[in-house]
Amino acid sequence: MGLFVSGASMATLTCLAAARFWAAKEAGWNVRERGLQAQQPDLVLYLSEEGHGCIRKAAEMLGLGNNALRLVPINADFQMDVNALRVAIQADRAAGRQPFCVSASAGTVNTGAIDPLSLLADLCAQENLWLHVDGAYGAVGKVDPRVAPLFEGIERAQSVAIDPHKWLSVPVECGCALVSDKQLLRETFSLVPPYLQLEEGKGFANLPWFSEYGFQQTRGFRALKVWMVLQTTGRQGLVQRIQHHNALAQHLASLIDAAPDFERVAPVTLSIVCFRYLPPELKGDEEGIEQMNRALVPLLQLAGEAFLTGTVLRGHFALRACILHDGTTPADLRILLESIRHAAELSRG
Ligand SMILES: Cc1ncc(COP(=O)(O)O)c(C=O)c1O
Repeated sequence: MGLFVSGASMATLTCLAAARFWAAKEAGWNVRERGLQAQQPDLVLYLSEEGHGCIRKAAEMLGLGNNALRLVPINADFQMDVNALRVAIQADRAAGRQPFCVSASAGTVNTGAIDPLSLLADLCAQENLWLHVDGAYGAVGKVDPRVAPLFEGIERAQSVAIDPHKWLSVPVECGCALVSDKQLLRETFSLVPPYLQLEEGKGFANLPWFSEYGFQQTRGFRALKVWMVLQTTGRQGLVQRIQHHNALAQHLASLIDAAPDFERVAPVTLSIVCFRYLPPELKGDEEGIEQMNRALVPLLQLAGEAFLTGTVLRGHFALRACILHDGTTPADLRILLESIRHAAELSRG
């Protein structure tokens, strides 16, 4: 079952509400009736250190609290470390808590890393845990055959959040929550007041009422813009666009790797490239490099030639390019690196 919502944050909240309802049901109680007021073992949710902040916000809003979150360490490729996850689950069980959900990333916001979904799906099946996949940015990357194998296992997830307003270029706002068990999603949210009830078999009674599957009652026609984008671009068009973006990211990575004054700081999986400007005079001066790169982001953003964001990877500031625009060309990537050099000169005064 799927629902269009405002964005991946709302999609995550919807999916994790279903996960929480399921976990309580598995343990023999009804969270819709009792809320989290009654004494129950603490529910625990696992995500990697690179998981998106919306998981945390959702956990807070669902009354689980931040203490319910376990930030699982990442490996060298910024993916969730499955062995560390296994150990954390055992430790929580031993302490009397109730592990209930693993929130994996299929395209982390920082580097585009894809967690080992197949291994996670196996582990979740063994441990009877709900597998949620945050595919807000990256899930549609699966249509690129070069990276498709990395997504293996996503089809075994109980829920997936996707943001058509990211890589599908659907105008904001448009997120999507997908939950494999339609009936469970309905049980999580359904509440039809008398003034909306219809008699079985009469009028509109047999249509699915989306308000039964999510928090919103009145809702806009978000599906229309998704449909229009899909009709305009076509499946083949989307595949080409996504392949092109991923190839551009590889190209940017090769330009960076070949440049003596740039340093790449993460593997490139999809269309995100993380790197630092590293002019010769700052080599070895970690503090100076950090300050210089931090100063570059607002200068570049205001200059208007290229738009980068900054992020922090393993405690170090990095520049982050995310290629999602249809019009981006290899020439733009060369201009990007030139703009950074130019902004660096300006920042030196
Ligand atoms: C991986 C990931 N998850 C979740 C979100 C949150 O999505 P939204 O801003 O649509 O709520 C984002 C947005 O950047 C994201 O990249």
